[in-house]
Order: sequence, then structure tokens, then C-alpha cells
Amino acid sequence: MSIIEINQKTCNKCGICAAECPRRIITLPDGGFPEIAAQVEAACNGCGHCVAVCPKGSLSHRDSPLGLSPKIQDGLKITSEQVEQLLKSRRSARAFKNKPVPREVITRLIEDARYAPTGHNTQEVEWLVIDNKKELDRIEEVGIDWMRWVIQNMPKQAAEANMEEKLERQKLHHDAFLRGAPVLIVTHASKDNPNALVAAIDSANALSFLDLAANGLGLATCWAGYVYFMANLFPPVQEVLALPEGHTAYGCVMLGYNKFKYHRIPARKVPRIIWR
Ligand SMILES: Cc1cc2nc3c(=O)[nH]c(=O)nc-3n(C[C@H](O)[C@H](O)[C@H](O)COP(=O)(O)O)c2cc1C
Repeated sequence: MSIIEINQKTCNKCGICAAECPRRIITLPDGGFPEIAAQVEAACNGCGHCVAVCPKGSLSHRDSPLGLSPKIQDGLKITSEQVEQLLKSRRSARAFKNKPVPREVITRLIEDARYAPTGHNTQEVEWLVIDNKKELDRIEEVGIDWMRWVIQNMPKQAAEANMEEKLERQKLHHDAFLRGAPVLIVTHASKDNPNALVAAIDSANALSFLDLAANGLGLATCWAGYVYFMANLFPPVQEVLALPEGHTAYGCVMLGYNKFKYHRIPARKVPRIIWR
């Protein structure tokens, strides 16, 4: 059985599916219906563009069945000004309310984040969600040991990052790494990924989508860069995260409800662009 199914009653053989296919493996032989020859099926990356682009809803794909490919609703289209304001007004939160985020909400955000582009449509980003205060507190705690380790073993980097000062503040406040956020989200994937660079980009894309989706739902995020470093270098944090065997962290983000509301969009550097 082919990986695509054509409704021959509604397909008008317009050929858009073939023209859109990124792998160029859909053909319309001799004016017939679209097909993917058995010998090139393996080249399909299951992106579902053929389903998405068919104006008649006549094509279903094994990896993107018509029933799981809802129609795009024109009524939900947002204006360019709304998109622009969403992009410019999202901020990295540094003060979170002491309010848990329901798991259904987190699941919804992750489901939205699945739609971020991934190299070759591999969709290999996996998720660890920690909403357990004990484990989050433990990360803050072992972070103190990590800072001591950096100060001792990487003095130049420690000085550049004002680590001594940070260490003193952390001893008092215990919020340097997670800012009191009730949730930490870690993206992870196999360590042996031959495309580690792509995996890192896929993860950053997914977390950026999650950030925007979170803002749309009245939540806020902040990248947890230090936790990410620790997750890759510092065994006590790796123990807390306890990622699946053979996996490594590709990104860490805090999530929660922002204590404060932003009233303005801060200025950013003028873009440096080379035009040719
Ligand atoms: C890879 C990365 C790591 C970051 N790590 C941290 C972090 O550990 N702690 C923190 O408070 N902010 C962190 N940030 C947030 C940046 O400081 C923030 O994006 C920047 O100051 C701009 O502010 P904005 O996101 O509100 O526009 C990180 C951002 C990125 C992209």
C-alpha cells in the first residue's frame, strides 16, 4: 500500500502536491492521479506538505492522515501588527508568581512547539518537565557547588561572569538559576546524534515556539542558560535531571506566571545587515 492515499472522486489532478513536495517524489504519470513510486517512498520525510497544500482535501498521508490535519481557519488569522507586537513584547521573566502551571497547559505548549521546523523533519526533540519544587530547589543548591567549581577551575571565565559576586548572592537568595519559576523545561535528544548542530537548532526553535505560545496564554519563560551549562558539564545537575540513557540536554527554559506586566517595548541594537 502506498504512503499516500488519493480521493479520486475529488482530486482534480492540479499537481500542486507534486510541485510542493520538498523531495520531488510525487508524480502524476500520464495525466493520472498523484502517486509516490514504491522505490522512492523511503525518501519521503513525512512533512505532510502534500496534505497541507491540497486545495481539495483529496490527499492523505500515512504520517499526516487527513483526520489529524485540521483545516487552517481564516477567522483566526492575526494581523501583521499583532504578530509584530507579540514578537517584540515577549520578555524573559525574572520574577515568577508562586503559582503552579497546570500540566494540561504545559502539554498544550509542548504540542504547539512540535510545529517548529526541524532539520529533515526528524522531530527528535524530547521533553523533560520538572514542576516538582524539591528538584527545582536542588538545582539551585547544587548550582552553588558548580559556581565554586568554576571559580576554582576556570578563573578567567569566572571573573568575566562575576561569579564570586553571584555566588554570594546565591547563598542569600537561592534563585540565580531558576528565578523562582515553578517549572523547568529541558529539551533533550540522543548524545550520539550525527547532526548535533541540527539537534541544537531544532531544540532552540522548539523552545522559541514554546515561549511565544506561553506568552499567548498569559505565561512567561526565560532561558536557563546556566542550568544548560550545568546539565552538560556538572554531574550533580545531571543526576537531578536524570535524562534517559544516552541523551543530552539541548536547551533549558523556565516557565511560570510573570509577577509583573511590561508596559513598553525596550530598544534593541540597530540590525547590522550586509545586503548584496
Ligand atoms: C541561550 C540563552 C541563555 C540565557 N540564559 C539566561 C539565564 O541563565 N538567566 C537569565 O536570567 N536569563 C537568561 N537568558 C535571557 C537573556 O538574558 C535575555 O534574552 C536578554 O537579556 C534579552 O531580554 P529579553 O529576552 O527580555 O528580550 C538567556 C537567553 C538565551 C537566549
